[in-house]
Amino acid sequence: MSETAKIELGGKTIELPVIEGTENEKAIDISAFRGMSGGYITIDPGFKNTGSCTSAITFLDGEEGILRYRGYSIEQLAEKSNFLEVSYLVIFGELPTAAELQKFENSIRKYTLVNEEMKGIIDGFPRTAHPMGVLSSLTSALTAFNPKAVNVNSDEEMYEAICKTMAKFLVIATWTYRKKMGFPLNYYDNTKGYVENFLQLMFSLPTETYKANPVVIDALDKLFILHADHEQNCSTSTVRMVGSSHAGLFASISAGVSALWGPLHGGANQAVLEMLEAIQNDGGDVAKYVAKAKDKDDPFRLMGFGHRVYKNFDPRARIIKKAADDVLSSLGINDPILNIAKQLEQVALEDEYFKSKNLYPNVDFYSGIIYRALGIPVDMFTVMFAIGRLPGWIAQWKEMRANNEPIGRPRQIYTGAPERTYVEVSNR
Ligand code: SDX
Repeated sequence: MSETAKIELGGKTIELPVIEGTENEKAIDISAFRGMSGGYITIDPGFKNTGSCTSAITFLDGEEGILRYRGYSIEQLAEKSNFLEVSYLVIFGELPTAAELQKFENSIRKYTLVNEEMKGIIDGFPRTAHPMGVLSSLTSALTAFNPKAVNVNSDEEMYEAICKTMAKFLVIATWTYRKKMGFPLNYYDNTKGYVENFLQLMFSLPTETYKANPVVIDALDKLFILHADHEQNCSTSTVRMVGSSHAGLFASISAGVSALWGPLHGGANQAVLEMLEAIQNDGGDVAKYVAKAKDKDDPFRLMGFGHRVYKNFDPRARIIKKAADDVLSSLGINDPILNIAKQLEQVALEDEYFKSKNLYPNVDFYSGIIYRALGIPVDMFTVMFAIGRLPGWIAQWKEMRANNEPIGRPRQIYTGAPERTYVEVSNR
């Protein structure tokens, strides 16, 4: 007999099924609850206790600090794999054979040319525009030039839409930087790898020969792997929600970019660097900022700390912290900001406030320090997060469509004015 949950309500006993996942996670299935209870619904602002779906893509255990893509630990993937292979794994569910990976890369290369008319759109932005706002707009605009990617009704159309998205998103993401700098927009080089192309798209100039540093390529490959997916986070849930109306893949990804931009989510990696620089400019007094973060009357939060799910160390933060040491020493960079970050972490982790609330460094705490060492400007940090998260967004959108999930439409409890009669303006 499978487990059930019984709720005593309005003199009735309602018995609800309990479902169990691969890793013994359990959920009470309330999909029939409103009908069974005579109109009751459940409510859970921020969905802290509510699952939106079942998914076979990513498993994470917030208490144990475990993160796996399709069953493979991120520790193994970060050490042994590369971003394009992990993208394939996350999207299609299996590690590719050499032939499958080559076909995937060749298929992406078919679509790396972005329609020249898209340059007219980017020209319309001021150079001061935040790259995430430009990226979200350009991603949505891709629909206009690739209408077939709006609604995919076959595996072939899905595969083509996926490869188009992987190809064109990387190019337009770098264009947001080139726009800010007033540089000419670069083209993808189909003779180079995906991550190496990111660097040449970002930094190569027509006036000189550009050669990407292998250390930088390797560091970025690892960082993108660590950002590839993270189950039902805010931006991924947004991509699934928008896609549930059968809006196209570009439109859904565009919405995900906007959700990721927020400083409570992916925008935190930019906010962390700004916070660390503020501490540095304020004489490096980390204790002062830890005290501010604890002060209920002070809206300041320790950016890069805390997580909705991880109540232990974010496993990605551990890997990125070590990578930060490795990359900076291999590039011969001694960045005092890294030392401030380590001091801040040390002070916070020993503080009762952070310990009692299970606040640990998350993925965003150290990533910006590496990006800065790699020459990535601060307001491009969240774009970096988006490039890494792209395969996860694609995979989750594909899974939601493959499972024929219903359009997302939560209910609410109304707390506004009761019914009342219209009053003519002369009588108000
Ligand atoms: C990402 O969901 C994902 O998986 C996201 C992500 C991914 O890969 O997609 O992992 C990427 O978004 C990482 C998180 C990046 N954001 C930040 O670093 C911003 C700072 N962190 C917080 O704002 C906060 O921790 C959140 C938003 C990450 C989580 O917030 P929750 O789960 O809603 O928790 P909460 O805001 O209710 O906080 C619980 C308590 C509160 O105190 P009390 O009201 O109980 O007294 O902890 C406190 C908060 O004030 N708290 C913090 C804090 N984070 C939480 N206090 C100081 N500094 C912080 N950073």
